[in-house]
Amino acid sequence: MPELHKKRLVLGLTGGIACYKSAELLRRLGDHGATVDVVMTDAATHFITPVTMQALSGRPVHTDAWDNRQPNNMPHINLSRGADAIVIAPASADFMARLVQGRADDLLATLCLARTCPLILAPAMNREMWDNPATQRNVRQLREDGVIIIGPGSGHQACGETGDGRMLEPAEILAEIIAFFQPKVLQGKRVLLTAGPTSEPIDPVRVISNRSSGKTGYALARAAFEAGADVTLVSGPTALAAPYGVERISVHTALEMHQAVMSRTGEADIFIAVAAVADWRVANPAEHKIKKTDNGRGVPVLEFIPNPDILASVAALPDGPWCVGFAAETEKLVQHAEEKRQRKGIDLLVGNLAQDVMDGDDTRLSLFDAAGCHHLPAADKLSAARRLIGEIARRAPQRHHSA
Ligand code: C5P
Repeated sequence: MPELHKKRLVLGLTGGIACYKSAELLRRLGDHGATVDVVMTDAATHFITPVTMQALSGRPVHTDAWDNRQPNNMPHINLSRGADAIVIAPASADFMARLVQGRADDLLATLCLARTCPLILAPAMNREMWDNPATQRNVRQLREDGVIIIGPGSGHQACGETGDGRMLEPAEILAEIIAFFQPKVLQGKRVLLTAGPTSEPIDPVRVISNRSSGKTGYALARAAFEAGADVTLVSGPTALAAPYGVERISVHTALEMHQAVMSRTGEADIFIAVAAVADWRVANPAEHKIKKTDNGRGVPVLEFIPNPDILASVAALPDGPWCVGFAAETEKLVQHAEEKRQRKGIDLLVGNLAQDVMDGDDTRLSLFDAAGCHHLPAADKLSAARRLIGEIARRAPQRHHSA
């Protein structure tokens, strides 16, 4: 099912060069199943034409408060009724100032004033305009009025200057809109996760690792962000992009992962260990590449020592976060998973059969906690992750660590 299936959005464009990105945003919203009505201010039509937006949305574009195409001649009322959200991208400094004042001097401003749905703004302007106290005052006031402001990003600007004020990229705005529609079951919580494999050096060019794509851990990090959490993902090497809105800390070895996690547990309410951590590392990795002839037989003999158990270390902390572990088993899932939960002393253990999930996009999870075992239906990894975040939110205690 597309992420924005059955969602009706109004996409508003105000004057700014970032309008060219709104065409791509509109395309992506449509690809994700949304029905989008586009409304443009007069200034926006100087940057991109309504014809482009009409072709991409497949619907008439609205630019005029006096447009009499609607039977009752009231586009400023009709367009927001039944809409799930109004998204203004780009939102100019002038438009935000007009919103703060509650003005109704063009169709888009009137529509926002008369709306019955949430309003999301993606500001775009020159960095000095963004930093100006008047704009900052307006942003604060809009937030206080319940308007959701996403971005702006920072970087190179069309005017040649560099700083804050760039509109978020279309993919980032899309991620924010999809997240907006997810229940905020972890609002205000801080979630720390591990994901991916670890990679233990044998010598400077060879490693021992586990087979793990990182997909389940990354999907959980994304789902936690969508649920309103502040998310830190400590990740071993994977081919995946960091999920939008998530702070990723990249590590290689289990020792690096252990250190990265232990230094952040004080700031976490919930710890979710998804990483496939190597159980052993080579005791003395060679300083230089081992030659095939080094020991006269062409086959090195490796000595291993155990890696720290990151999950068990966090679970043993006196005032540590609420802990969730994973167990990928190849047989006797229920027995092994429950044993592991008790041995590691954790609150919730999520089990799956390794052969069901390895490299794939689908998963079938089972939950083990003090109340027993509970099987979740098979699903794609993102849907399963969202479901699991809901289960975690229901179980995790309502406490916060002080920052
Ligand atoms: O003992 P086993 O590796 O099967 O346990 C799996 C769970 O423990 C996973 O949640 C995994 O991320 C975590 N783990 C860990 N540190 C290790 C080994 C496993 O955090 N050294």
